[in-house]
Amino acid sequence: MSNPEITVRLATAADAAAIAEIYNREVAESTATFDLVPRSVEAQREWIADRSGAFAAIVGVDPATRRVVSFAALSPYKERAAYRTTVENSIYVHRDVAGRGVGRQVLTHLLDVARASGFHSVIARIEASSQASRALHAACGFELVGIEREVGRKFNRWLDVAVMQHLL
Ligand SMILES: CC(C)(COP(=O)(O)OP(=O)(O)OC[C@H]1O[C@@H](n2cnc3c(N)ncnc32)[C@H](O)[C@@H]1OP(=O)(O)O)[C@@H](O)C(=O)NCCC(=O)NCCS
Repeated sequence: MSNPEITVRLATAADAAAIAEIYNREVAESTATFDLVPRSVEAQREWIADRSGAFAAIVGVDPATRRVVSFAALSPYKERAAYRTTVENSIYVHRDVAGRGVGRQVLTHLLDVARASGFHSVIARIEASSQASRALHAACGFELVGIEREVGRKFNRWLDVAVMQHLL
């Protein structure tokens, strides 16, 4: 697969296993997620079911193979009512196809969804050493707001979080 045009659609329960496979590799091997325990397919199905309406989960599909190669989602930023125009995003790309423009296509689509849903501000919370994620978000118009120091711990080391924001 070289620089594929990705089809992007809403995630369905049938995507749970493919999404869990992408996610669980990052749980086990990287600090991209601060989860420490892999997600079961059942838990992944519930995660998808929780994301409907404005808080959408989408998948990127390689049209040639129909394989889910990426997923992304919008989640509530904070509970208090005045935060309701802000949303937090996440995005993951299967390592087999990383660095080929898939992330940029899927994140661009996710921002369109956020805009269409009326959100004003999108926040990404990124483990600060992740150059790929910071570059992807910068390429899609996010700007660095600040760094939270040593707020996480995984693989026996402290983790900083880079907070990046896109005003829609
Ligand atoms: C971060 C991630 C989503 C990027 O997706 P991707 O499909 O590899 O990214 P793209 O190929 O679309 O690249 C997007 C931009 O980031 C840059 N980029 C991608 N990987 C990079 C890397 N390793 N180092 C530096 N820049 C990188 C690209 O040059 C591109 O910029 P450009 O369009 O201006 O040339 C993917 O690597 C991933 O899933 N990583 C693990 C999970 C993760 O970190 N998720 C983010 C949690 S907040």
